[in-house]
Amino acid sequence: MPIDQTPFVPHFLYGTAWKEDRTAALTELALRAGFRGIDTANQRRHYFEAGVGQALAAAYRDGVVTRADLFLQTKFTYQRGQDHRLPYDPVASLSVQVAQSMASSLGHLETDYVDSYVLHGPSSGYDWTESDVEVWEAMRQERDAGRTRLLGVSNVSLQHLEQMAAAHSEVPAFVQNRCFARVGWDREVRLFCRERQVIYQGFSLLTANTEVLRHPLVTDLAVHASATPAQVIFAFARIVGMLPITGTSNTEHMKQDLASRDLVLPPDAVRAIESLAG
Ligand SMILES: NC(=O)c1ccc[n+]([C@@H]2O[C@H](COP(=O)([O-])OP(=O)(O)OC[C@H]3O[C@@H](n4cnc5c(N)ncnc54)[C@H](OP(=O)(O)O)[C@@H]3O)[C@@H](O)[C@H]2O)c1
Repeated sequence: MPIDQTPFVPHFLYGTAWKEDRTAALTELALRAGFRGIDTANQRRHYFEAGVGQALAAAYRDGVVTRADLFLQTKFTYQRGQDHRLPYDPVASLSVQVAQSMASSLGHLETDYVDSYVLHGPSSGYDWTESDVEVWEAMRQERDAGRTRLLGVSNVSLQHLEQMAAAHSEVPAFVQNRCFARVGWDREVRLFCRERQVIYQGFSLLTANTEVLRHPLVTDLAVHASATPAQVIFAFARIVGMLPITGTSNTEHMKQDLASRDLVLPPDAVRAIESLAG
């Protein structure tokens, strides 16, 4: 689906990884703080997707949001990225695993569709393999059946994306990658995305770039704008076209991260940050 037909993509995503038994409380807090995009995964090793579902139920019950207000994104994760708590039968075909994982996600999130379904990572660090072809085709079937509006891929290189585009005559609606300043903030992949109207979702924008947060260029901009360095980085990410993800557990940071939307940075400062470390 072309991006301009996308019903609703928020300007920030709240990430739910590594929150374990605090997942429900923190996700509910994020919804109350104003987040309308939620990123999770059916990968019990790092995410507690059912906890996200509990937060959604509480927020619906209290009238904080309705399902239609939200952008819910989850992921299919190969067995290699899972622990023993699998959301599918490991001896079933990959196509069946995708269908089972999706059914399980919809159960956890108590919904009959997600807004985005993401392949958590290709099966190989180098190529888009036959396994990925099978999984992507199964994900397309989930989309055709109305169980997801859009599809995405995560942890991909430019080579993965080029091979994928050639194999399927289709690019994903989303790419979700860890975004390192030292490689021009994932410049190559972002360029591919910009040219193909793919929305780039950046994670670890703060944790992968601690040296940038301390850089005088960023700290001076923050002082000048009465903002925090973290807000400057999120504002920068938005201005260069990314959809940023935060997984903060702190209420004040939730508000600050959302408020970074209103931060204006001079174009020369944006260019300087973009080439700061790569
Ligand atoms: N696709 C994948 O393979 C993959 C991998 C990793 C992550 N993700 C997704 O991305 C989400 C985010 O993960 P992440 O790696 O970016 O790490 P994260 O869990 O968001 O950690 C962000 C760090 O930044 C801090 N922080 C956030 N806002 C801040 C602010 N305004 N001021 C100061 N500190 C701030 C947080 O501390 P406080 O809690 O104290 O605010 C936390 O230590 C995950 O939850 C997950 O949904 C996806």
